[in-house]
Amino acid sequence: MKKMLFVLMMAFVVNANAQDAKMKTFVDGLMKKMTLDEKIGQLNLITPGSGIPTGAVVSTDVEKKIKEGNVGGLFGVIGVDKIKQAQKIAVEQSRLKIPLIFGSDVIHGYKTTVPIPLGLSASWDMKLIEHSAREAAIEATADGLCWTFSPMVDIARDPRWGRIAEGGGEDPYLGSQIAKAMVKGYQGDDLSKNNTLMACVKHFALYGAAEAGRDYNTTDMSRVRMYNEYLPPYKAAIEAGAGSVMSSFNEIDGVPATGNKWLLTDLLRKQWGFKGFVVSDYTSVNEMINHGMGDLQTVSALALNAGLDMDMVGEGFLTTTKKSLAEKKVTQKQIDDACRRILEAKYKLGLFDDPFRYIDEARMKQEVLTPERRKEAREIAAHTFVLLKNNNQALPLKRSGTIGLIGPLANDKSNMLGTWAVSGDPQMSIPVLDGMKSVGGTGVNILYAKGANISDDTLFAKKVNVFGTRIDIDKRSPAEMLTEALNVANQSDVIVAVVGEASEMTGEAASRTDITLPESQKLLIMALSKTGKPLIVVVMTGRPLALTEENNYATSMIVTWHAGIEAGNAIADVLFGNYNPSGKLSATFPRNIGQVPIYYNHKNTGRPSAPNSPKFQSNYLDAPNSPLFPFGYGLSYTSFSYSDLSIDKKEMKASEKVTASVTVTNNGNYDGEEVVQLYIRDVVGSITRPLKELKGFQKVFLKKGESRKITFSIGIDDLKFYNYDLKWVAEPGDFEVMIGTNSDQVKKSSFKLLK
Ligand code: NOJ
Repeated sequence: MKKMLFVLMMAFVVNANAQDAKMKTFVDGLMKKMTLDEKIGQLNLITPGSGIPTGAVVSTDVEKKIKEGNVGGLFGVIGVDKIKQAQKIAVEQSRLKIPLIFGSDVIHGYKTTVPIPLGLSASWDMKLIEHSAREAAIEATADGLCWTFSPMVDIARDPRWGRIAEGGGEDPYLGSQIAKAMVKGYQGDDLSKNNTLMACVKHFALYGAAEAGRDYNTTDMSRVRMYNEYLPPYKAAIEAGAGSVMSSFNEIDGVPATGNKWLLTDLLRKQWGFKGFVVSDYTSVNEMINHGMGDLQTVSALALNAGLDMDMVGEGFLTTTKKSLAEKKVTQKQIDDACRRILEAKYKLGLFDDPFRYIDEARMKQEVLTPERRKEAREIAAHTFVLLKNNNQALPLKRSGTIGLIGPLANDKSNMLGTWAVSGDPQMSIPVLDGMKSVGGTGVNILYAKGANISDDTLFAKKVNVFGTRIDIDKRSPAEMLTEALNVANQSDVIVAVVGEASEMTGEAASRTDITLPESQKLLIMALSKTGKPLIVVVMTGRPLALTEENNYATSMIVTWHAGIEAGNAIADVLFGNYNPSGKLSATFPRNIGQVPIYYNHKNTGRPSAPNSPKFQSNYLDAPNSPLFPFGYGLSYTSFSYSDLSIDKKEMKASEKVTASVTVTNNGNYDGEEVVQLYIRDVVGSITRPLKELKGFQKVFLKKGESRKITFSIGIDDLKFYNYDLKWVAEPGDFEVMIGTNSDQVKKSSFKLLK
């Protein structure tokens, strides 16, 4: 058996080497024919501006530049016809007929939009996440694309930062699993297939650690923190074979990522062995001028020297590299290496065999936004919702009586898709009201009232509404809307209030200093609670919100994120109990903004939190240290109990494994899924270690009354961390093992790692 595996592996290696050699011969041959200008042209990525421009500049003279061989790729071109047109110009009218690569922000689904990434991560279901990326790849490639600017794997612990919506939350382990699943989903096992997309891991690196949660802001952290807490998901994505990487806007150690040689060459290529190409973020080369790194020629040379291969939008490479070469500020080899990496990506995508491989109008008609895909999007969405509170088992709802469906997001289409749904059409989405009527059926009477605006602040609304009206300020006064809502509430047996953020209150350049619900909605919830009726609060959001007040008022509360094209149906499925919620938070929900940044895997400090001690401990005077809802938290309509935590040995040699097991019992009234979570604490270390770190999880389905033994195998790699010298080590000594339903409620045991 072992011998057979070895033979198979060797055959694979020989085959891969032969393929690499073939690619090298091809690219060598092509590069021999290329002029310096044509090589520099490959490093240029521009947008004609038909997508969503995320900077001040959009490109000009696109057609002329393609003909002259001054463009390597395009992004922001949506639609198979337009892509075909551009590719035809490249392969018919440019001298060397080199095909273009077509990229886009395919972030959470393509036309069939699924929940925002923060929502997807709350499913803790890697198969589902991989599948959602696979589906997105099928749709996007059917529409002519071959490259996605996803996954975004930036660890984020600051909910002020609007882009927390686009990632997998706060944890390096969960984030790494998601990174792998997404790369696998997009790229499949063969990039040259016409339904696989090249992934682009972003934003390299540490973009999620922007100071004060303000977008594009400075980051600064120790290498130890970087290696242990922020870099793992990028590394996991690279190890999963991601074809490209996007450099981030922020600086690292005082040098912007886009011009940071340590980051793009020493770490990414030398330490991690990355073989693909690196693209800048939108004008991030030029933005180094503002960072204070020099003029356009200087910053462009800095970026090329650092290891950046492709320049997005800013055209610093295009316009200054020749001069820099003549002045010996960059080398021919640097230009050749960057050009080669981009040509190799095109080769791997199969574009030299057939530049129209991804351009197939028939596929576009058959494979995009099909009823089957919509059905899947609905199921995916239901798996991402997190039940935060369910007093008196107010949920699931009965399919009888009168439901007062109230709130600014209760009958809304424009905010269902969430941020970064560039290719989705909000008009195709299902509002909650429609979903509730169709799932509730004829036995239930649904009354609707808007109740409040998402926000009454016109200036705020103007900033949010840059891509279309997301906050629609009603012609009626807030008082009139509230009266109507209370009227509806008083006629109802139960109130379902659908509140939260507009989609563009998160995402790029959407940071907030206040992460509570806008005042208009707070007042609505408070007024509804005073009716004394059971109050179900459904919260749509792209970030962890501080929901302390709503938690006090609500009978039940559920977070549904921005759930995508089938939002309304999926929400109704869960509220009426067709699907029992199983999501768990992938980012901590604080009590208030003052606790931010807040995350579960923090250090102990020398004066750990001691809630009852009035002085000289690491506490707040005015709030507990604990969050409102911890990482990993999420309820179900049923309940699960944990018992009999056991580990098979008290001492472990480095070559051995420890098996930890626990019995999980569904002792409630419904079948349901539970995410069983394993945390480990390294009790004594050569550097301080977190109080706990997620090291494993399993999502299991248990029928009502069923018990199951869940087993985790802990190996030496699960005990390793980067020490002071950035060596990946496991240090002998005591380890605590914790298994439970969230990061706070765990059963504990321990073992010793022997020398
Ligand atoms: C800027 C964003 O930071 C990045 O995530 C995105 O991929 C590019 N714009 C292209 O749209």
